[in-house]
Amino acid sequence: MVIPAAGSGVRLGEPVPKAFVDLGGRTVLQRCVDGLATLDADVVVVVPADLVDAARTQLPDHVVVVAGGAHRSDSVRAGLGAAAHRDIVLVHDAARPFTPVAVFERVVDAVRSGHRAVVPGLPVADTLKQVVVASDGSGDCELVTRTVDRESLRAIQTPQGFTREALALAHADDSGLATDDAGLAERVGVPVHVVPGDPLAFKITTPWDLRIARDVVAEGDH
Ligand code: CTP
Ligand code: MG
Repeated sequence: MVIPAAGSGVRLGEPVPKAFVDLGGRTVLQRCVDGLATLDADVVVVVPADLVDAARTQLPDHVVVVAGGAHRSDSVRAGLGAAAHRDIVLVHDAARPFTPVAVFERVVDAVRSGHRAVVPGLPVADTLKQVVVASDGSGDCELVTRTVDRESLRAIQTPQGFTREALALAHADDSGLATDDAGLAERVGVPVHVVPGDPLAFKITTPWDLRIARDVVAEGDH
């Protein structure tokens, strides 16, 4: 399993990169790795180059730590280079430290059953509208061009699971703009299947998410 943790966390806006933010005495990254303890997985963690030593100190000895790259997909490829050769490879954001083990199991089971790429996803709760910048001088307002059919949409989480062959194919030709690995797989024609995700697999992205994460820890839910 590859855990990309090499982002800088611009949207979170904390003084340290997101994976190294403290959550009740353990970092986001430590909590993420600890959450995998019951899984039979070789873990490769990818962190900013200047934090490789710090991460090695924080994490159990069996965890391999390597330096990441400018884009998420660069970091994933760095991790794949250090990963053990398994038939199934999972990629999981460090920024989703509360992901229940059941989600990992659902993803792995679906890949084992024959799907080459599997992602967890949840229905979308809000009404979604497409907008453009308003050109009628209405200041900060945007103009709605259409309402998107919510029923057919899923908010996609990690872990994302792949056959080794499918993930290698996905990463063979990458422009650097994909926000997830399944997006790369789609581009090369690999069918991607969705299994149910979990609200606890939310990604810590904004200060609001961090507030919720600290509540989850304080309430002993993780
Ligand atoms: N990631 C990575 N290498 C990058 C960029 C992102 O390993 N060059 C990782 C992040 O550390 C995170 C996951 O990919 O665990 C999901 O990315 P995101 O939520 O976008 O995290 P950041 O890129 O750190 O946040 P931001 O986009 O707000 O800067
Ligand atoms: Mg990012």
